[in-house]
Amino acid sequence: MNLNLIYYFAKNKLEGESSGHDWLHALRVERNAINISPQGLTQSEQNIIKICCWLHDTIDPKLSDSKKTTISDIRKLLKKAEVNKNTIQEIIYIIQNLSYSKNIEKKKELSLVGKIVQDADRLDAIGAIGIARAFYYGGNKEHVLYNNKEARHINEMTEVNYRDQDSVINHFYEKLLLLKDSMNTKNAKIIANQRTEFMESFLKQFYEETQYKK
Ligand code: ADP
Ligand code: NI
Repeated sequence: MNLNLIYYFAKNKLEGESSGHDWLHALRVERNAINISPQGLTQSEQNIIKICCWLHDTIDPKLSDSKKTTISDIRKLLKKAEVNKNTIQEIIYIIQNLSYSKNIEKKKELSLVGKIVQDADRLDAIGAIGIARAFYYGGNKEHVLYNNKEARHINEMTEVNYRDQDSVINHFYEKLLLLKDSMNTKNAKIIANQRTEFMESFLKQFYEETQYKK
């Protein structure tokens, strides 16, 4: 299996991306995945995890047209890299189904390997890095930092209307503070709890400094 080919394909697609899915995000997700993986995964499972971490955002519709990749491009890439047929199917299933938005209405079934990649991606959306990414994303989309509208309850959100939120602070209530309860693995839960406490203390101080109300 030619892992290098896949690594450089993803690096080339994601480097310099400004929609919140840049190449450094993919590398942080890979590091998170290694950190939360249990002992005893096979070499093949470890390779699938790496490949999914590198590729998972290359198919995101938010990427600019010139950078976006289709499933058929991914299939061709993986074939060229001599990944076997079943593994290609597994990788494609994972990267198509791990996102937060895809799982709002109904939770998708994932294998252990898929669960690890999903947790690793979600860990990068919380804590200090998660706060940084949320404000960066909001700025890129010309959203406001804060407004006095209510955040929506999870039951009011769908895969489509999830994107409508235009206040970064509200995004904490609609996603970031909820992620800790959606972690699949024991190790990710521990890290998520600590990162969530950090976000809560950030919000507390934010309200103290600004005198805004939530
Ligand atoms: P997913 O692919 O898991 O659905 P997204 O693509 O929505 O995740 O998110 C990418 C990054 O941008 C994450 O760090 C996320 O928290 C942030 N983000 C997404 N939507 C918003 C929003 N409305 N306001 C602020 N940050 C956002
Ligand atoms: Ni991601």
